[in-house]
Amino acid sequence: CLWVRNFRLKRRLPGPFAWPVVGNAMQLGQMPHITFAKLAKKYGNVYQIRLGCSDIVVLNGDRAIREALILHSTEFAGRPNFVSFQAVSGGKSMTFTNYSKQWKMHRKIAQSTIRAFSSANSQTKKAFEQQVVAEATELVEIFLKLSAQGQYFNPAHELTVAAANVICALCFGKRYGHDDVEFRALLQKLDKFGETIGAGSLVDVMPWLQSFPNPVRSMFNNFKDLNQEFFGFVHNKVEEHRDTFDPEVTRDMSDAIIGVIDKVDSDNGLTKGHTEGTVSDLIGAGLDTVSTAIHWILLLLAKHPEIQTKLHELLDKVVGRNRLPSVDDRSSLAYLDAFIYETMRFTSFVPITIPHSTTSDVTIEGLHIPKDTVVFINQWSVNHEPPEGSLDKDLTNNVMIFSAGKRRCIGNQIAKVEIFLFFAILLHQCSFEKSAHEDLSLNCTYGLTLKPLNYKITATLRGELLKAVW
Ligand code: HEM
Repeated sequence: CLWVRNFRLKRRLPGPFAWPVVGNAMQLGQMPHITFAKLAKKYGNVYQIRLGCSDIVVLNGDRAIREALILHSTEFAGRPNFVSFQAVSGGKSMTFTNYSKQWKMHRKIAQSTIRAFSSANSQTKKAFEQQVVAEATELVEIFLKLSAQGQYFNPAHELTVAAANVICALCFGKRYGHDDVEFRALLQKLDKFGETIGAGSLVDVMPWLQSFPNPVRSMFNNFKDLNQEFFGFVHNKVEEHRDTFDPEVTRDMSDAIIGVIDKVDSDNGLTKGHTEGTVSDLIGAGLDTVSTAIHWILLLLAKHPEIQTKLHELLDKVVGRNRLPSVDDRSSLAYLDAFIYETMRFTSFVPITIPHSTTSDVTIEGLHIPKDTVVFINQWSVNHEPPEGSLDKDLTNNVMIFSAGKRRCIGNQIAKVEIFLFFAILLHQCSFEKSAHEDLSLNCTYGLTLKPLNYKITATLRGELLKAVW
């Protein structure tokens, strides 16, 4: 029974004293991942907190997290049945669904669709890269326009449009202009998605907050509205695809997913609605994350002009001034790649994964965790552990930002190509500078992603403006 379950959880796991009603909610602070890392120093890497009416286990540090996600991958592959998760993609999302046979099938379909359109063979690889290069060169032009007469601008929104265009081109065979007002408005709303989904959000653990007016309730109402609007947008696009579907010609990812989920009479429980669910998962996951990565990169470049100069020199030496950088240059641009990994490690801009839950009883570091326990995985703590003795042989592999195990990110390969190309092309073509009056802060807002506070930079063209040539 619940009492016995709670008793066992309470007895076996260390953790801070939980107050009645709110539990430890008031102790999370503005940056819960940092609070969780501090609590780990006191209670160990595996401990329990209570948020509202939910007991939650928090995992910290490389050893405990890898033991859970890799050695006990199935036991930690669940998702909690949070009300906010059910509001995503009309309840047909793969990302926000609990572990099951049906989920496994759904994930496989999403994974093979990504592969088919980005890395299946040299032709798809090239087509994907060309798409990113086209977006990156357009972004260069937009940044230069926004910098006319030495003006300073905030790059955040243009970065979101560029990342959205890459994934929309893959999913719908269509990109949107940076001046498309409706598309910009939709993306602006989606910007708030991570506030509710991020670990520590209160609506899921204090359901009674929905019964009277308060900021959490209005945040949740906005969340439901934005999900409905986004799902409606995806649904319309998928319907257009259904109307013109030709099984002989797969135009884009939507066609590929329709071909598998709509058209195949499967007994795995997936229905037509899961087609839209898959497309929204891919678009949703692919825009905020990639754009936030580049947002941090631009901030750090402007903050550290000496590193920017070194990177400019490297690009000029390896690529020269007569062509744009390409993925083939990557192995010769190790310092640039190192800058990307260090940005991911240092900012840990997805500080805690999407909340997990246990699919059965499990023991981690000798501590018993019952089935159906909500689990927060503190990636930030892995990336900020002091090194033990000598440096690791393969540091880049140890940066944890895409998670690990059965729920690890399925877009990590395309995300890395996108970030590399956007970064290399923007930097090859432009110098970025902050205003003398601005002291660029590393402070950020918390959610599923950590976003830099508004900042402004200006871009200056380095030499000749190059167009993509194929
Ligand atoms: C899940 C990170 C880009 C698709 C995740 C998770 C993280 C993550 C931390 C949660 C894993 C967990 O709960 O344990 C990132 C980062 C990205 C990125 C840092 C960019 C720098 C992308 C892209 C796509 C994508 C471009 C697809 C187009 C997904 C999907 C899931 C996911 C579908 C859900 C997996 C599941 O629940 O089984 N990602 N991601 N991601 N990501 Fe990414």
